[in-house]
Amino acid sequence: MLIIDGKKVSLDLKNELKASVESFKTITGNVPGLTVIIVGQDPASQVYVRNKAKTCKEIGMISTVIEMPADTTEKVLLDTIHDLNNDPAVHGILVQQPLPKQIDEFAVTLAIDPSKDVDGFHPENLGRLVMGHLDKCFVSCTPYGILELLGRYNIETKGKHCVVVGRSNIVGKPMANLMLQKLEATNCTVTICHSATENIPFYTSQADILIAAIGKAGFITADMVKPGAVVIDVGINRIEDPATKSGYRLVGDVDFEGVSAVASAMTPVPGGVGPMTIAMLLKNTLQSFQRINRL
Ligand code: GUN
Repeated sequence: MLIIDGKKVSLDLKNELKASVESFKTITGNVPGLTVIIVGQDPASQVYVRNKAKTCKEIGMISTVIEMPADTTEKVLLDTIHDLNNDPAVHGILVQQPLPKQIDEFAVTLAIDPSKDVDGFHPENLGRLVMGHLDKCFVSCTPYGILELLGRYNIETKGKHCVVVGRSNIVGKPMANLMLQKLEATNCTVTICHSATENIPFYTSQADILIAAIGKAGFITADMVKPGAVVIDVGINRIEDPATKSGYRLVGDVDFEGVSAVASAMTPVPGGVGPMTIAMLLKNTLQSFQRINRL
């Protein structure tokens, strides 16, 4: 069984991005800038935002974090986004989710200039992805990272049956639509399963490529997987574990031990899809810089 090592691939990718940032700096005198807005003090969001900022700096981009109080009004947030849309030093804008309940997340998504929407959440970007214009949109970072992994590991996808479990706007929907496109590392027949699907194992056991984005620890068990399948685990679930210092550990949506006896290749948790997400965010930010500067 092949372990698809997202940690290693993300390091390779970050080195490649760093070299590109340096060479574009030589040409233009400028570097890409990513601004992340965090509203409130959600601890998990704070960790994500800190990691994004750190990685951004590591590869030579300008990272700006705007911290706003939990009682920020929607209007104040939208005005801030508007200013960033008009700031030529900002190539990527990301508003960390979840947002406090007085703020409409969709209104925020719509307010971000699609040409700076490095999260790929704006309907214009998702629409362009659905239509296959991948060179003229931003792809949501987690599905984009999975595509990169499939490509770098030369996983055979053409004509294969890809089953995506999960239908979120951030992962499931863009993922399924990507796998449907006529590209390298895609070109699949695609099935989407979700919380109302009857008999999920009926579908998953037919998957050549199984992508689990459910949010339930160990949901995919060995009996649900076709022998030889490639299994991609998007889940990051905290489960209690008194044996660890923190009292918990992270596990995926796939029962790794059981499924590893059946699958031909798998992403581990941690160290699989997770590390790819930030790397793809930076790839999108570089892409935005290149488009804006016609590079
Ligand atoms: N919250 C958890 N993941 C993400 C992400 O990829 N983007 C944003 N904006 N918020 C998130």
